[in-house]
Amino acid sequence: MARTIIFSDSVYTDDVNDPALNKKIIDYLENEKKISLGNTLSNCGGYQTKPVKDETIIKPIFKMAVNLINKDFNRPHVHTDSNLSGVYFVKTHNECGNLVFDRNDISMEFTNNELHYKDTDSWSSYSIVPKDGLLIIFASNMKHFVEPNLTQQSRVSVAFNIRIENGEES
Ligand SMILES: [Fe+2]
Repeated sequence: MARTIIFSDSVYTDDVNDPALNKKIIDYLENEKKISLGNTLSNCGGYQTKPVKDETIIKPIFKMAVNLINKDFNRPHVHTDSNLSGVYFVKTHNECGNLVFDRNDISMEFTNNELHYKDTDSWSSYSIVPKDGLLIIFASNMKHFVEPNLTQQSRVSVAFNIRIENGEES
């Protein structure tokens, strides 16, 4: 029987681990915690900085504003006014909370396809275990959340959005 893949989404990952950059991010985070109350967006607990303007942090990852996030968990959400979104994990631990993508079509949750098919394209959710240096990029409309951090240690990550200003050539 022929199979045609439709409505697929993709997640891009890469190992970027840069110890010098990671130290700079953690130092920045620790300093911000001393001088600012930070932001509360989708994060529940933990601490999230206001958008970062420090180019020595932004440029090595992408040329855009980023948030430093050190949090307990995130509610399901999408990133508005953005085309691609991403997260770079700086400091992680076992059971510090997976990044989970859910299909926007919630009726897929009733199929239990994960139990029957190895092909992730038919699953209703897809989970990524964080690890130090892991970079993940995904379409901003993909619903996602971060599971609770079950450890007593902080998880440090950088979240960012990419808005394509000129996506098509005329
Ligand atoms: Fe997010």
